[in-house]
Amino acid sequence: MKKFSYKLLSNAFNQSDIKEGTKVIKSKYLTISKITKKFEKYFAKNLGSKYAVMTNSGSSANLLATSVLRNPLSIKKLKPGAEVIIPAVCWSTSLWPILQNNLKPVFVDVELDTFNIDLDKLKKKITKKTKAIILVHVLGLSTNMNELMKIIKKNKLELIEDTCESLGASYNKKKLGTYGRFGTYSFYYSHQITSGEGGMVVCNNKIDYNILISLRSHGWSRNTDFHSYYKKKFSNINENFLFIGPGYNLRPTEIQAAIAFNQFKRLNKLMKLRKKNRSLILDKLKKHHKWDNQFDFVKVHKSINPSWFGMPFLINKRYIKKKKAFLKYLTKNGIENRPIISGNFLNQPASKLYKFKFKKDDFKISNQIEDRGFFIGLHTSKIKENDLNKLIEHLLNIGNLS
Ligand SMILES: Cc1ncc(COP(=O)(O)O)c(C=O)c1O
Repeated sequence: MKKFSYKLLSNAFNQSDIKEGTKVIKSKYLTISKITKKFEKYFAKNLGSKYAVMTNSGSSANLLATSVLRNPLSIKKLKPGAEVIIPAVCWSTSLWPILQNNLKPVFVDVELDTFNIDLDKLKKKITKKTKAIILVHVLGLSTNMNELMKIIKKNKLELIEDTCESLGASYNKKKLGTYGRFGTYSFYYSHQITSGEGGMVVCNNKIDYNILISLRSHGWSRNTDFHSYYKKKFSNINENFLFIGPGYNLRPTEIQAAIAFNQFKRLNKLMKLRKKNRSLILDKLKKHHKWDNQFDFVKVHKSINPSWFGMPFLINKRYIKKKKAFLKYLTKNGIENRPIISGNFLNQPASKLYKFKFKKDDFKISNQIEDRGFFIGLHTSKIKENDLNKLIEHLLNIGNLS
């Protein structure tokens, strides 16, 4: 008998995705070109942003966006040491660009209902030195964006929305990632769309956009609006190799762009399928005769239209000691699972290197999410009845484990 398997994602690519990727390979032009540009334009328009810049990952998108805040060409830039607020439940590469740009992270706890930043606690962490927020929209949900934007405005803060887990979600019908100066997205495996690796940054300011383009490609002026000025001023230098500032190489390939573009066109359909599967799992669990509140689930505020990519669970406190054995049990029985982002990042060994000063009591909820949380996949084809029953059976077995 075939072993039961419930992965974080299954059948990521359909035939047309493969066809689009293969067409690029056959053309032999694999480096960034027309398809990437077309996808960027389509992506920006579809989300309601002026500009989009594709990258080779969501991490690169975060690095680019944060680096613009410190770039010499930037109109509104931060000084070294400026404080940047970030939720403790974040990904490593939401955090590292802050340090890589000589800025100071200030961590804030999150809410238990949504896993997103706690706005009351955030307000208390704002000082004269606070200049920006790197928000993380966790697993397809967000905090109260109306309230957050009031805080941003009142305190004149820059906002980067790490939307790597929430492509397609909206708050009050406005897409997440388009509220701030920058929004970033990931197309990594198991995210809402995937090109294996890939990412995007969106913004509304033309200068920011041009800096992103330069930063993405070595810091040169080629393909930016700065080019004509520098070409004239430095006419002795080959115009294709004019470097105007710091830079990386974070470009995607045309293959990634072709696959992600093709998938992006059916994002709404993929979102609906994941939503449906989530409802089926939730319904079946709660109606099961063995259901005894073994788990808690995130609450979806009425202003949010979520875009799920995983299904998070919080284990009931009475089973907390069984968590390790339970996750091992799920893995052994074919159910892939993982932590909610990376738990409370302050507990990670890497964070110890920087000796961040914080009071443990200020991060009670982030610790709870680390101690009680995990998530499983939500697939982009309707879950089969048999698989659903198996999944539920294994999940509800938590009480029987020793
Ligand atoms: C919140 C968040 N930010 C950034 C990233 C990084 O994205 P990528 O894996 O495309 O580099 C992830 C990865 O899953 C993430 O969850």
